[in-house]
Amino acid sequence: QTGYITLDDGYGNTGACESAITYIDGEKGILRYRGYPIEELAENSRFTDVAYLLLHGELPNIDQLTQFSTQLNESSIIHEDMHHFFNGFPRGSHPMGILATMVASLSTFYPVPDQLDTATEIQIVANLISQVRTIAAFSYKKSIGEPLVYPSYKLKYVRNFLTMMFASPVRDYQLDDDIVRAIDMFLILHADHEQNCSTSSVRTAGSSLANVYAVASSGIAALWGPRHGGANQEVISMLEQIHAEGGDGTEFINQAKDKNSSSRLMGFGHRVYKNFDPRALVLKKHCDKLLNKPGMNDPLFDIARRLEEIALNDDYFISRKLYPNVDFYSGLILRAAGIPTNMFTVLFAMGRMPGWLAHWREMIHGETVTIYRPRQIYVGEPLRHYKNTIPR
Ligand code: SDX
Repeated sequence: QTGYITLDDGYGNTGACESAITYIDGEKGILRYRGYPIEELAENSRFTDVAYLLLHGELPNIDQLTQFSTQLNESSIIHEDMHHFFNGFPRGSHPMGILATMVASLSTFYPVPDQLDTATEIQIVANLISQVRTIAAFSYKKSIGEPLVYPSYKLKYVRNFLTMMFASPVRDYQLDDDIVRAIDMFLILHADHEQNCSTSSVRTAGSSLANVYAVASSGIAALWGPRHGGANQEVISMLEQIHAEGGDGTEFINQAKDKNSSSRLMGFGHRVYKNFDPRALVLKKHCDKLLNKPGMNDPLFDIARRLEEIALNDDYFISRKLYPNVDFYSGLILRAAGIPTNMFTVLFAMGRMPGWLAHWREMIHGETVTIYRPRQIYVGEPLRHYKNTIPR
């Protein structure tokens, strides 16, 4: 039964629905998908396994994984008529705006029947998980004026994506296994996160029985904000500015502490975690491994570690229980993979797509699908009557 129950976790998060998908303990820094600790999934599984787990509640066996991978592969091509859409976007359009528009328009080419049977529902969900990747890569190619690279049935999810992003008819592109693994792990860590802002948008839009493509597009729109999914891009801008100024970040931290300043230490703090975000710990470990490879060193990683060290010993952050969140190190992984910063939140959306769709399915299959309609406490004017003051 997914209905609203009143819950206040003491940090201003009130109102909750019941869900069996993801468990978070913000005080202890615990995150589990369908009961599995995020650390074990990040180290041992692959993004397509985790997408299946979130959608179906169990990790796939080899037959189920093969069937799911085939579905993802067969739906990785988008309708050729959709290419006209890309040409219609002004040069310099943000990839998140293109993604939100294109995902919502998928319903034009892949209509959603009124009565969804399970097989059709799962096919549509697989389409979305696969096509968000293709649209993302095509948006990037369009933004740099290069020819599109189509998905290949020979490649798995992440290898397909990186090849569509960086291959070209005129240059050799060799996939680096460590980069593939790091991006796969990035997608796993972003796959779901309980009732966060964008997932709440998905559940709210889904509760009106809007079509699933429009519902997914509502999640993309909410994720775009700098306080949510847009933070990974802001973290890199912050680190680049500190690097350019040759500082150690102390000035930035002082600004973030200043009540009169609107700046915040991006990648720090969380609505729920009042301890380390377990995803940040996994990402930091992978940054260590990836950026210590020959030729992969990134001075921004040293700045990030220094910034973390200063903040974690500063009473302002300690007293407010502000720790690094998923966005603090994630951008460094994407940078190492050559992903441009304006694509960072797009990859967050690719990762979160299975989580959004798992919540959509959980909600529409709830015992009663009631439309989300939070109430309010009215603090406006008392009753008053109209007086005409405009000479007519
Ligand atoms: C994501 O919900 C999710 O699960 C989201 C997410 C997911 O996977 O879906 O985990 C992904 O969105 C991670 C968060 C990414 N955003 C950022 O890194 C942006 C920087 N962080 C902040 O904007 C902030 O921490 C939020 C938005 C994440 C949380 O904001 P809140 O809930 O309004 O902050 P709070 O109530 O915890 O703040 C308490 C105090 C306030 O100061 P006081 O009024 O007590 O003096 O801490 C301050 C805040 O001003 N504060 C910060 C800060 N975050 C909070 N001060 C400086 N730098 C920061 N980053």
